[in-house]
Amino acid sequence: MIRPILKLGAPELEKVCTPVTDFDEDLRNLVRDMFETMYAAPGVGLAAPQIGVDLRLIVMDVRGGEEEGHQIVMANPEIAYQEGRQREEEGCLSIPDFTAVVERPYLVKVSGQDIDGNRYETVGEGILARAFCHEIDHINGVLYIDRISAFRRDLIRRKIRKLMKAGEW
Ligand code: NI
Repeated sequence: MIRPILKLGAPELEKVCTPVTDFDEDLRNLVRDMFETMYAAPGVGLAAPQIGVDLRLIVMDVRGGEEEGHQIVMANPEIAYQEGRQREEEGCLSIPDFTAVVERPYLVKVSGQDIDGNRYETVGEGILARAFCHEIDHINGVLYIDRISAFRRDLIRRKIRKLMKAGEW
């Protein structure tokens, strides 16, 4: 089921989420909905709080579903190691129609749990490192605009306030 994606301004997007403890059928259904919602958007990553669910859970597919075998599900993800730097344009499904250049590590080692609760570790480079950082930020209540200059952030916030007033957000 495609779920509505919360937009900037929703309080759910600004809180530190609760760890996943129940690796059950409900979690499977939630993950299925998250992929469906992400692909429909379309996007390459989604965190549970973006659909209003208070859980440390992320899904990603940097190929956008165009190829099999790129789906990533991680519960309780943590960045264990990071290296290098990259500066690229970044967007977010919760801040539609805006982008900004964000600095991220070039490589991250991430540890967490799969959908059955098994611990695993993976390494992401380039766009995958960027996606992991972006989604892990979400479960900590952080948005990419929190990582850009105050000037750029205020510009985006001002434009969004205008859209809100016009009922277009
Ligand atoms: Ni996002």
